[in-house]
Amino acid sequence: MWDYSEKVLDLFYHPKNQGPMDPTPEPGIRVVTGDVGSITCGDALRLYLKVEEATERILAASFQTFGCTSAIASSSALTELITGLTLDQALKITNRDIADYLGGLPPAKMHCSVMGQEALEAAIYRYRGIPLPVHTDDDSALICSCFGISESKIRRLVRENHLTTVEEVTAYSKAGGGCGSCLADIEDLIATVLAEGGSERPSVAEPRDPVQVKTSAPLTTLQKIAHIQTVLEQQVRPLLIADGGDVELYDVDGDQVWLRLKGACTSCASSQDTLKLAIETRLREQVWPQLTVHAV
Ligand code: FES
Repeated sequence: MWDYSEKVLDLFYHPKNQGPMDPTPEPGIRVVTGDVGSITCGDALRLYLKVEEATERILAASFQTFGCTSAIASSSALTELITGLTLDQALKITNRDIADYLGGLPPAKMHCSVMGQEALEAAIYRYRGIPLPVHTDDDSALICSCFGISESKIRRLVRENHLTTVEEVTAYSKAGGGCGSCLADIEDLIATVLAEGGSERPSVAEPRDPVQVKTSAPLTTLQKIAHIQTVLEQQVRPLLIADGGDVELYDVDGDQVWLRLKGACTSCASSQDTLKLAIETRLREQVWPQLTVHAV
């Protein structure tokens, strides 16, 4: 499992402001949503903002997410950070602010803070009825087809977070974390951005927490089955069912886990692969780090 800060664990076990928001509040108040990701591509976040129209102040924020421990904690942290701010003030919140609020995130989990920042921007731009900034559209070249990450998004992450390695780009965006065929392109793009020089924000400190996998006594197969069932029942199936899909545990043999995807999750081969990866990440974090998930 990852070495999370106490704040991350607290917000994971006791998330604040989780759940949908009533879309029809009183006069003078508007509720908008910002969506990032796709449930069939792994992580997904929907952020709700309740905004006082006269002042553009965020009166309340809430979230729904399909993601790992750090995605839930990052989303919860974001809602606490922005409540009470004006929209202009909220637009200045960075993914680094979210990570700092949590006492740091493991480097490989920084993409969760990026997802929060992007959902916030999406909600505010939707509120104002203007197109999203260029970094979120698809006009630039697609660098990583496995995770749908564009050149402009990678450029922005490299500039704003002072990234210098492919591994860092993967940690912040997931780009390169699938088939690996885009790794050379990412490396070239990093070199190009660094050669262009300049950055939009001050230099940031290194992430506080190194990635560590805790070792403990191996689980028995029965214990693994019980833990996997609990994670699936409590965290995965409710979200999939709400989206027309479902999953069931088919078999466990050592560290190999077979899952049967059902409903909408079976609609195409690629969605099965990405969904498998998302569930695998969650099971590795919460059950046993060596687990490998297969779809049957
Ligand atoms: S194209 Fe980027 S990991 Fe596959």
